[in-house]
Parts: sequence; structure tokens; C-alpha cells
Amino acid sequence: MRLTETSGWRALADHVKQLRQKHLRSLFADDPSRFEHLSCRHGNLLVDYSKQRLTGETMQLLRQLAQTADIAGWARRMRSGEAINHTEQRAVRHVDLRAGDAAPPEVRNVLTRMQAFCERVHSGQWRGYSGERITDILNIGIGGSDLGPHMAVQALAARQHPDIRVHFVSNLDGADLANMLQHLSPRSTLFVIASKTFTTLETITNARTARDWLLAACGDPSMVARHFVAASTNLKATGEFGIAPENVFEFQDWVGGRFSLWSAIGLPIALAVGFANFKELLAGARDMDEHFFSAPAESNLPLTLALLALWNTNFLKAHSHGVFPYSHSLGLLPAHLQQLEMESNGKHVDRQGLPVDIATAPILWGTAGTNGQHSFFQLLHQGSELVASDFIALARSDFPLPGHHSNLLANCLAQSSALAFGQTQKEARQAGIPESLLPYRTFPGNQPSTTIVLPELSPFTLGQLVALYEHKVFCLGVLWNLNSFDQWGVELGKQLASRLAPCLRGEAASDTLDSSTRGLIDHLRQFRT
Ligand code: F6P
Repeated sequence: MRLTETSGWRALADHVKQLRQKHLRSLFADDPSRFEHLSCRHGNLLVDYSKQRLTGETMQLLRQLAQTADIAGWARRMRSGEAINHTEQRAVRHVDLRAGDAAPPEVRNVLTRMQAFCERVHSGQWRGYSGERITDILNIGIGGSDLGPHMAVQALAARQHPDIRVHFVSNLDGADLANMLQHLSPRSTLFVIASKTFTTLETITNARTARDWLLAACGDPSMVARHFVAASTNLKATGEFGIAPENVFEFQDWVGGRFSLWSAIGLPIALAVGFANFKELLAGARDMDEHFFSAPAESNLPLTLALLALWNTNFLKAHSHGVFPYSHSLGLLPAHLQQLEMESNGKHVDRQGLPVDIATAPILWGTAGTNGQHSFFQLLHQGSELVASDFIALARSDFPLPGHHSNLLANCLAQSSALAFGQTQKEARQAGIPESLLPYRTFPGNQPSTTIVLPELSPFTLGQLVALYEHKVFCLGVLWNLNSFDQWGVELGKQLASRLAPCLRGEAASDTLDSSTRGLIDHLRQFRT
């Protein structure tokens, strides 16, 4: 039976009819201790969801739904290595990557090799073709082979190794690599080619150009082995590229791209902040795994985030989800979560291959606060869209410039409060706003948000935070009856691009194409020649 056909779903559908009319102002007035009832903690991590448009009863109904969907059973299947990614016949075992001493031998083995490699680079033992030390690492990868590590390296910049700079190039647009190479020296640059498949067009194109750049400088193909290492599952292709087998850091096909920063794909993180910090990142994720697998539903943070998302998406009909880290260091988190949530649960058929009968993953977007306040927050405050948001705040900053952090936190709290409560005409009038401007100076409020507070941004708390969202995505996939671990939706565009490239080069006829694509190709070709 579909979840939407259960009595639990119908109960929520009835329940939302009363709640839809309620304003957060009255929900707060009805229950002065809302914050105590509608927030939960794990260690030093706090999730406050009292500014969501729901009550304790809503949460009870949602938790019953989670029981009906058997989230706990699916979590056991995932952990036991069952091929729950059924369309690719693969297990989903990213949790094993951060299991510490309980990790499988192949995982521990690669971690040991990564550690030894980082030490050789950091100590200056690993040298480039001219004998110079490595000063710059360039990670070439895309999607999960870029976003997670890039986000983590930026997030942990305060712990950056003093002698190593880590950069990222992902885009097929030559502007990305060309701009980067301008600032690098081939003598002291080490490339990490990060690709699970080692066939991704963007990554292989950039990797080949980087190899040509190196060879143009050193002229000796045997030196590729000194300047290129790989994180991949495809040893054959890495070998063909010229990367020595001992410089390939392997992982397994049971690691999905968007869940791979804990694997060898995390090598640039370890190079940037040191292996001890990378291990702390894994420990933070492991801590969240243990919490997710053992905490009761009432205090289970990932489950709670998933239920809030389900409520907002399917019952309040908010199809947009903003993520606003009030931390410049976490500026790339929305981009990472975008892939994590939208590639996982942006699906239109369920596990049985039948069309879904409800909305699935909302559009996730966001940027670091306070910057967003000066661009799109206007729409959140006075536009016509219901947008559910996550605010992420850090109690302490790694960059304690006088006067900055308390103002940053004040802005974070002010925004979620203004979004929730708005400003009525009466309040605007009392504040001295002239009558003619009252319509423009009122704020409807009632925009739901959750605030996640971390004590600080350390490798450990970052690991907790990212794993929190990973398990949220898992729970939502179970609730929506989706396979969250495949991504067939990205294939069609890739296939079409490979058919269109020869047309653009004039090597194939375009007359079988649709008139728009043909017209655009003809137009582009005029300017290209
Ligand atoms: O095109 C989507 C995708 O398959 C992502 O899922 C993945 O993270 C990315 O491409 C990169 O893939 P690879 O690591 O194999 O280069």
C-alpha cells in the first residue's frame, strides 16, 4: 500500500486543514514553551524547529508515518549491505567509510595509504619533477567528486596546512582550468584526479589538458606519475591515463558520488587540513551515524529534519527549500546539499517503477548569511512563495574579529524571527510608518524555518552536520518510496551532448534535430567560424 493511502497520511491531511490557517504568532502564543517542546539536541548540536508551522500533535502523526514506512527496517537493510540501490544492483555503504576500527579492511587499508601519502606531501618528501616541494594541489573532479571535498576544504580553512594550498577545478568550460593554471607552477603542483568512474567527460578533459600542461613544461611522460594521483574505482582507466597503481586511492562501487567525501575522494581534505583532522571529520559523521541508528524518534535529528521536509513539501506545499549557513566558511554547503538532496530524491517514479503521486525533493538552494539578506531575502519576507528554510549558526567563530560574530548571530536570529512573525499593519503604524506606506511596510511572516546550532565549525561538527543531512535524505527516500541512490536523470543530457558535439564542429549533419536545437547550432557556428 502506498503511504498516501494509509490512515496515517489521511490523518495528516485532515490535520493540516486546521493548521494551514494558523499563524506562527498564534502557535507561539498558544504554547509559551514551544522552544522546549519543539527542539532537540544531540551532544552540543541543537535543532530548533519551533518556528515550523506545526504542533506536537503534528510531530506525533509524522512519527507514526515514519513507523509505517519502516525507516528503521530500511536502515537495517542499508547497514547489512543489501543492494537497496536496486536499479544499479548496489549496496549503499558510505556509513562503513567512517566506521573507524569497525570499517572493512579495504577501507582501512586505503585510509592508511592516504595518511602515508599526506605525510610524504606535507613533509616535503614527495617532490615534483624538478625536485621542488609540492605547494599546490589541484583536485580535478565534478559533482560528488568535487562538491563535498571543496565544501569541506573551505569550511575547515582555519586549519589549512601552512605550506599547502588546495584548489578545485570542475567545469568543462576551459575558463575554469585556464584561470587556475595561470596561478600554478608545473614544478610544484600535484593533481588529484577524482572520479569514481574515471570516464566523466568534464574530469577527463580537464585531466588531459592538465597533463599536457605538465608535459609542455617537463617534457618527460614518466613524470606524470609524480604529479598525478587519482581517487577512483576504475584502476584500468587510471593506469591508461599514466597514473601509477600505487598512486591510485581506491574506493568501491557501493559509495555513491554524493556520499563519497568520506572515501578516497576526501584526499584533498586530508591534504588541506592534515590526516588527523580528516579522521576527526569521519569521527563526527560516525557519531551522527550512531545517533541516527539508535536514538528514539522523538530526539532523532535526521529523522526530525526529514519529517519536517515531508510536512513542508507534501502538506504545506512548500516546494522550495533554502539553506542559509550564517558562516562564510560553510558557503559551499548549499551547493553540496543541492546535489545530495536533489540528485538523491529528485525522482518521479517510486521503487516499483510507478509514477509518484506526491511531490518529492523540493528545489534546494541557498547562500551564506548575511549575503543572502541583501539579495533574495526580500522575496522570502514579502514575496508570494512559501519557502521552508534551514538557518545554520555557529556559537563560536574561528575568525573572532571584534564585533563580527555577535552581529552575525544577531542577524541570523533576526531573519528567522522576522520570517516567522512578520510585522502587522498595527505594529507598522505604531512604529510611525505613514498610512500611505503601510501596505509596503507590513510583513506577512509565517515562513517556516529550522535553526541548527553548532558550537563551532570543527572537523568533528562538520562531519556531524553533513551526515545529519545524509540521513535526512535517506529517511525521505524511504518515506517517498524512492531509490535515493541512483541518478539516471543525468544520463539523457550526457548522451545528447555527445551527439551534438560533432554537429557543432560541422562533422555531422544537424537536419534530423529539432528546429530549435538546429537553429541554435547554425547560429553558433556562424560565430565560431
Ligand atoms: O553526472 C552525475 C554524476 O554521476 C554524479 O552522481 C557524480 O557525483 C558525478 O557525476 C561525477 O562522477 P565521477 O566521480 O564518476 O566522475
